[in-house]
Amino acid sequence: MAAVLTDKTRLNLGEGLGIRPPLKWAGGKRWLVPHLQPLWKNHSQRRLVEPFSGGLAVALGLLPEDALLNDINPHAINFYQWLKRGLNSKLAMQNDEEAYYACRTQFNKLISSGKASSKEAAELFYYLNRTGYNGLCRFNKQGEFNVPFGRYKTISYDLYKNDFKSYKSIFANWRFSVGDFASVAIKEDDFIYADPPYDVEFTQYSKEAFGWDDQVRLAEWLSLHQGPVVLSNQATKRIVNLYKKLGFKTKILDAPRRISCTGDRTRAEEVLATRGL
Ligand SMILES: C[S@@+](CC[C@H](N)C(=O)[O-])C[C@H]1O[C@@H](n2cnc3c(N)ncnc32)[C@H](O)[C@@H]1O
Repeated sequence: MAAVLTDKTRLNLGEGLGIRPPLKWAGGKRWLVPHLQPLWKNHSQRRLVEPFSGGLAVALGLLPEDALLNDINPHAINFYQWLKRGLNSKLAMQNDEEAYYACRTQFNKLISSGKASSKEAAELFYYLNRTGYNGLCRFNKQGEFNVPFGRYKTISYDLYKNDFKSYKSIFANWRFSVGDFASVAIKEDDFIYADPPYDVEFTQYSKEAFGWDDQVRLAEWLSLHQGPVVLSNQATKRIVNLYKKLGFKTKILDAPRRISCTGDRTRAEEVLATRGL
């Protein structure tokens, strides 16, 4: 008799890293899961709250019973909400430049006509994420998705298309929300894992989306939480000092190599700041 595969084992394609995330996501923390597992182990009866859940690598790595997963990106969250409903996609996904730009135009039409939460928008977002350049999610000033075609030799859509329905049972007790981290409705005994955009030093006055003021706002918000908190970030001096000052314990880890904007491969250090553990 053929072995009966549960949804979790069907999707469990990693090596101790949990379930493979459905989207490509810049700054994904799948590599950090083995460092987070020992911290989570004694708290797994709690609700996991991720104010910056991004590609869901951590939630799918720790597999909590109960979770609140938030991100400011409404398209990723819409896609997860459709997976939770049991998304069954019939979209013809082709690794073809013309098809890609036609889908991009259709996705932008849905956004501009107020249909960004539709099933079609969720399917298109998934397709654009796999087929576009580096899995980026970038919008121009007019709010249009403007990532170019990715030029990959091969892309497998089937694995995910066939397994979309497997996420339904995993997401059953997870809630998803869209917004700024400070709007997340936390309860005092929640376990918070916060993974904001990296601090980039010497950018105090730049207009980037998550600047130094936001890093400080986040650290202060996290320091007010009664339950356990884990924060990961680039280990810049000012981030390490900020969290130390607020009474967090800090640990420095070697992060995987990243390709910098000049094309160099840089070895970055990551800080894990913890409190109440
Ligand atoms: C480093 S990524 C998180 C990656 C995630 N831990 C993973 O493993 O895939 C940071 C995330 O923060 C989100 N973000 C940026 N500003 C935010 C804000 N003010 N509030 C909530 N989320 C925000 C971004 O959309 C992005 O998904």
